Amino acid sequence: DTAFTDAAAEGGVRRRDFIEIAAVATAGVGGLIAVLPLVSQMAPSKDVLAESTTELDITSLEAGQSIKAVFRKQPVFVRHLTPAEMQAADAVPVDDLRDPQTLAERTIVGHENILVVMGVCTHLGCVPLGAAEGENKGEFGGYFCPCHGSHYDTAARIRKGPAPKNLEVPAYEFTSDTTLVIG
Ligand code: FES
Repeated sequence: DTAFTDAAAEGGVRRRDFIEIAAVATAGVGGLIAVLPLVSQMAPSKDVLAESTTELDITSLEAGQSIKAVFRKQPVFVRHLTPAEMQAADAVPVDDLRDPQTLAERTIVGHENILVVMGVCTHLGCVPLGAAEGENKGEFGGYFCPCHGSHYDTAARIRKGPAPKNLEVPAYEFTSDTTLVIG
């Protein structure tokens, strides 16, 4: 008798679990269907992303100046680093960095004083302030994300705060001494 009751109770639990799982699964599918049209509206099509590049003339970009441009619908910061900013970046032991990269690894040979980074915080995607806008550069002289306080240095490497990675360096090249093509 006891054995029967236990088995029935167990069966009952299993049935309830199943009903709950089925309900969650249905809600999940419903949620997905509701969200998908929004996502596809927001995301640029793959073809657009693959083909789009951003060309910038940096002839008049002097040391200490920045340009904020748009690359694939996201902000990109191009900064002509000052000698002091380059020295500050090179003075940091790479092994101490959360995302170890030298300034040289983040720039192009012969153009190490031009830093090109995405203006998208690697924590949750806010647009950092800083060198690009002459605003709050944070503690390390580079970029500061006002959302949750991530500080990036003059090479846009994460130094403090919740962001896990350096600001991303997009693919780019110089097609002349003063023409930069991003993408
Ligand atoms: Fe930049 Fe959170 S999004 S610190």
